[in-house]
Amino acid sequence: MQRINMAAHSSSGTGFFRTLLSRCRTSGPGKSRTPGLCQQHRCRLSSLPPLPPPGTWSSRLSRLSHRDLYRLSVTDPDQFWGSAATDRLRWVKLFQRVRDCDLSGGKISWFLGGKLNVSVNCLDVHVEKHPDRVALIWERDEPGTEVKVTYRELLETTSRLANALKSYGIEKGDRVAIYMPASPLAVAAMLACARIGAVHTVVFAGFSSEALSGRIQDAQCKAVVTCNQGVRGGRLIDLKSTVDAAVKSCPSVQHVFVSQRTEQPAAMGELDVPLEKVMSCQSSVCPAEPLDSEDVLFLLYTSGSTGKPKGIVHTQAGYLLYASLTHQYVFDYRDGDVFGCVADVGWITGHSYVVYGPLCNGATTVLFESTPVYPNPGRYWETVQRLRITQFYGAPTALRLLLKYDESWVKKYDRSSLRTLGSVGEPINHEAWHWFHSVVGDGRCPLVDTWWQTETGGVCIAPRPAEEAAPILPAMAMRPFFGIQPVVMGDEGEPLPGNSVSGALCISQPWPGMARSIYGDHQRFVDAYLKPYPGYYFTGDGASRSEDGYYQITGRMDDVINVSGHRLGTAEIEDALDEHPAVPETAVIGIPHDIKGEVPFAFVVLKEGVGGDPPAVLQQLRDLVATKIAKYAVPEHFLVVKRLPKTRSGKIMRRILRKVATETTRDLGDMSTLDDPSVVQEIIEAHELYRKQRSQEKKKN
Ligand code: WT7
Repeated sequence: MQRINMAAHSSSGTGFFRTLLSRCRTSGPGKSRTPGLCQQHRCRLSSLPPLPPPGTWSSRLSRLSHRDLYRLSVTDPDQFWGSAATDRLRWVKLFQRVRDCDLSGGKISWFLGGKLNVSVNCLDVHVEKHPDRVALIWERDEPGTEVKVTYRELLETTSRLANALKSYGIEKGDRVAIYMPASPLAVAAMLACARIGAVHTVVFAGFSSEALSGRIQDAQCKAVVTCNQGVRGGRLIDLKSTVDAAVKSCPSVQHVFVSQRTEQPAAMGELDVPLEKVMSCQSSVCPAEPLDSEDVLFLLYTSGSTGKPKGIVHTQAGYLLYASLTHQYVFDYRDGDVFGCVADVGWITGHSYVVYGPLCNGATTVLFESTPVYPNPGRYWETVQRLRITQFYGAPTALRLLLKYDESWVKKYDRSSLRTLGSVGEPINHEAWHWFHSVVGDGRCPLVDTWWQTETGGVCIAPRPAEEAAPILPAMAMRPFFGIQPVVMGDEGEPLPGNSVSGALCISQPWPGMARSIYGDHQRFVDAYLKPYPGYYFTGDGASRSEDGYYQITGRMDDVINVSGHRLGTAEIEDALDEHPAVPETAVIGIPHDIKGEVPFAFVVLKEGVGGDPPAVLQQLRDLVATKIAKYAVPEHFLVVKRLPKTRSGKIMRRILRKVATETTRDLGDMSTLDDPSVVQEIIEAHELYRKQRSQEKKKN
């Protein structure tokens, strides 16, 4: 591994970030290791393919083939998950019962009676064995200025932060919002909450102040942890001022902890606490709170098809076990690897595969602060070369962007360290899959298209693990992970047997990583996921099972769209647009986009008399969405229409809008339930006009 570039430090941050930088000068890679022996579990690495021996799993399990292990995981979940949890996690008190679940009744409990602490499993157990192993490589925005943080340093930082939170009255069960981009302090803040039993809710630092305050209010957060500014793609982004605006309407917030990512001093108000300063006065030792397996670990807000974003609840033991097991097996993680997941910590991918999975496995994990094109389109691959990354896990939207540039941006960097490539967040198209596999991976690395959700906690369907040399088909998630039994449902709500079928994707058995609830609204959880197909977990996605029995995800079945891998409810965007006084009604749908995957398309009805200046209103609508949600949620298209197509009962027929907007066909399907079919012709004409105007504008530019 490379040492950090000292020359770049002069432009570095202040406060604690600087302390981290200076301490990291001496921190190198882990101590010498016994060749072929895993430090964490003392298992032999030489016999890795097809399945690495599962740590210190009971010797019986470790001798099973993938096929038998999968069979055991679904026929005897108690034995499978029970021995995995016993062997892989450190318990303060061992659980007495593996599971107590009733999907129809909405009850999901794993490892009952057990007590443990997640931060101990992610830090202390590794510090005991290899304190100087690098836990985090903070790949900062400016290439060549990465910072390495060892397990010992991360434990100390986490403990100081935990003590700081405690000294300001944060206790077990309190909610803490974290509004920070990927950085060691963001990770330490998550782990500090876990250490004292507080519940974190990380809010992606691209969300607006209103989106942030909505989440803080829903979770009734007592504190916020943030930093003065973010740095991304060479630009500074003010975060503290966004938090200031948000907390004005959040009476539950008693303290805002502010760290200094850049030199720019933040204006400090009554609630504000300088984070580095209070941490420096705290002890670097903090006792870990023993927590029940089913105590809440974190909330993460995500969009649904209706209403406000929902706070998905994940708990301690089951989530951690599932994140760590999937991290090891799906990506073929081995001791000594440098795991590179470029997702932000604000999404579930960042939680499970930047933080909890890798750290539980004692890995070196990369925190990527920059963008795929900064300072140029070679950034990812230059980073792979410099950090010697072994697994690269990213989003199709970034790949689609990068494949438009010359291959030399990839080829000029040494990618021989790479062993596994992974994709997540949305369907990966064939072109992107092949480019990733053959150009980036030189055709020699398994590429895993991983399907999962905020609600599932970790990967549920992916080509690996599998039997040795099992095929990987392009652009397909393929195989269920241990303990996952996918079911494809037909139109009548019946499981479709056999192969070559397609329908609604459900999962028929609970697994330890699945969400437990929606914060403050368990009934909504039951209604959204468990009621549609009683006895099953409903994913909201469609899927098909191929003639070979492999799973292919076909996309959302509800009004959720996926913009650059980020989930958005069309209802959320409509709610934002509807706040405009000149807009009595809107309908938003998603349409395909060649880089972002999907983009929102808004149909808006304007009040009579506004006719004068629709462009000004449209600009106000764009601003509304950016301030109410986030910039990425702003519709790419606006079409002003006189009326929306509705059924006689008043429901908007989005299916028709989708067809009109994508022009896939002029056959609009069954319109018999439509109240007034002449609306459709009006909309088609308006769209034709809009399309002509856009192409003329494009030509001009
Ligand atoms: C939705 C979940 C899972 C972490 C990132 C997104 C879509 C996710 C795939 C994939 C096709 C995928 C689904 C899913 N999705 N991965 N490999 N192939 N679709 O988490 O924000 O909770 O979104 O993303 O539609 O339901 P999320």
